[in-house]
Amino acid sequence: MKDVPFTLELNAPDFIPSQYDKHIRRTLSAMKGQYSDQESYACLLAKEDSLLYEVYEVTRPELAGELLQGISIVHPGQVGDEYFMTKGHFHTVLDTAEVYICQKGQGVMVMETPEGDWAVEPLYPGCVLYVPPRWAHRSVNTSPDEDLVTFFVYPGNAGHDYGAIEEQGFRKLVVERNGQPTIIDNPRWSAPEVEK
Ligand SMILES: [Fe+2]
Repeated sequence: MKDVPFTLELNAPDFIPSQYDKHIRRTLSAMKGQYSDQESYACLLAKEDSLLYEVYEVTRPELAGELLQGISIVHPGQVGDEYFMTKGHFHTVLDTAEVYICQKGQGVMVMETPEGDWAVEPLYPGCVLYVPPRWAHRSVNTSPDEDLVTFFVYPGNAGHDYGAIEEQGFRKLVVERNGQPTIIDNPRWSAPEVEK
């Protein structure tokens, strides 16, 4: 690992960065229980364990003063009427933020807090999305035929916490209705218990 300044080239149009330490590939089988339409999920998986998204990461020490960066590529497609998406996560150190800069494609970032507040922001080339501390985040590709590519950067000590999301998913789902991306309630989601 170099401890001198370095430059990352993002390399349009495919956006595979000029250097990276980790290449993560998530296929359909890694998303068990995440899609609302379980029947379509099983049907698709029986045909092929398709590649849903890829992440190229530049590794740095997991320290608060460091920044971790990389490229996320969500491929186009749907499970039933729900778009291909990332698993989504809270940061293990909840009070850490993240910035996403969309490079290509169209989609949305679905976000929520542990208290059940939610937000959905658009992703389009050139936009810079700020995910504040405490907000879980998942990117969703709403294009029928184009990759959704984002550059991300977040604190080195943040970590990933998939647990809560794996249990019941996000509060909101993004599905295609009459050819348009539409936000609907997740029927599996239940409100957090409020402390008295
Ligand atoms: Fe994150």
